[in-house]
Amino acid sequence: MNIKTEKLFPDAYGIDKAIDLLNAGELVAIPTETVYGLAALALDANAAAGIFAAKERPAFDPLIVHVPRAWHSCAELIAANIFSPSKMGPNQQLVIDSLIRAFWPGPLTIVAPKSEKIPDVITSGLPTVGVRMPDHPVAQVLLQRLGQPLAAPSANRFGRISPTTADHVIDELDGRIAAVLDGGPCDVGVESTIVAVNQDGSLTVLRPGGVSIDALHQALAFELKTTSATAIAIQTNSNGSTPAQAPGMMESHYAPGKTMFLMPPGTSRHLARRDAATIQQLKDAVEKMSPGALKIGYLVPTGSQALHQKAVESALGIPVTVKSLSPKGDMIEAARNLFASLRSLDDDISLSCIIAEPCPDDTGLAFAINDRLKRAAARVP
Ligand code: TXA
Ligand code: MG
Repeated sequence: MNIKTEKLFPDAYGIDKAIDLLNAGELVAIPTETVYGLAALALDANAAAGIFAAKERPAFDPLIVHVPRAWHSCAELIAANIFSPSKMGPNQQLVIDSLIRAFWPGPLTIVAPKSEKIPDVITSGLPTVGVRMPDHPVAQVLLQRLGQPLAAPSANRFGRISPTTADHVIDELDGRIAAVLDGGPCDVGVESTIVAVNQDGSLTVLRPGGVSIDALHQALAFELKTTSATAIAIQTNSNGSTPAQAPGMMESHYAPGKTMFLMPPGTSRHLARRDAATIQQLKDAVEKMSPGALKIGYLVPTGSQALHQKAVESALGIPVTVKSLSPKGDMIEAARNLFASLRSLDDDISLSCIIAEPCPDDTGLAFAINDRLKRAAARVP
């Protein structure tokens, strides 16, 4: 596969060109509010198969289907041949409608029984389909003008760091796809939260993401007029992993090319206090993962880059490049910066390895940030 990848802008020419390419069965990377997606017509099995080839993605990992704003209810999705009514229970439809009202357009993917019109290649043969209404004007213009759904996984090679700018997409897929539409940096920065809506209306969180578990509880309590959020069972756990795994959610994912490992949360604070045990733990970890390192990268969720740098450099005695995801401690900003910061440490050839500290707790967007960090750092000393 070696074709010229054209960078398009969302002006009249760029949008027309993207639509022509998609209608011709080509692959076009598009901006969404979460990360860039690699789009193809969802109802065209050959075009969708091209996504798997370009990404080197295994066939068992299903694709998310993106829909236009107009399909803003379970009934519309049934009418558009996305979901199948015959396989859904009444509670299931009620809960889907509540989720749609609360979170669409936005970073929530809903998994429910699929219509037979959705090709099996999209769902990897599963009887369900994951559907999302992206909240990005460029994605929406394309979907509305096409009048049909787009399949779009994150626009990276399989297992790699997800792209949050058009240039990241070029880094990942240049020469493999027809075009990328540059809509600027993504606002949310982590992928959508994926929930399966079960027959009885209970939810299973398959991937933490841009919608927090708290927000899911609150919205369902409000929408369904229940006094207690626990009236709707949401299965998840709070240690950064989810009990039921979505297919393709591998232990190693979002991974930089460099060795990356996680230290306990708050490590740099202990280093600043010259805590001898923490200094030794860090030295041992670096020596084990990257013997003889001359310079390393260090990623922290919050706090001043300069202060972290001073603490880590004086502990290790070598230069360190620090990225703080949000110096002021705002988790929305931290999520937005996560993948670009990881990528820039990975691209810096002067750095031998990357060390990261997770967020100290798993509330709000920190749950998704910690999930991505754990998967990016598959090897822990
Ligand atoms: O924010 C997002 O969701 C981004 C943007 C581009 O929309 N897309 C995205 O797609 O993250 P991707 O392919 O990187 O991740 C999709 C994941 C799959 O790996 C799989 O785990 C889950 O969605 N998935 C899709 N369909 C499913 C299904 N029917 N049942 C269970 N999990 C499903
Ligand atoms: Mg992905």
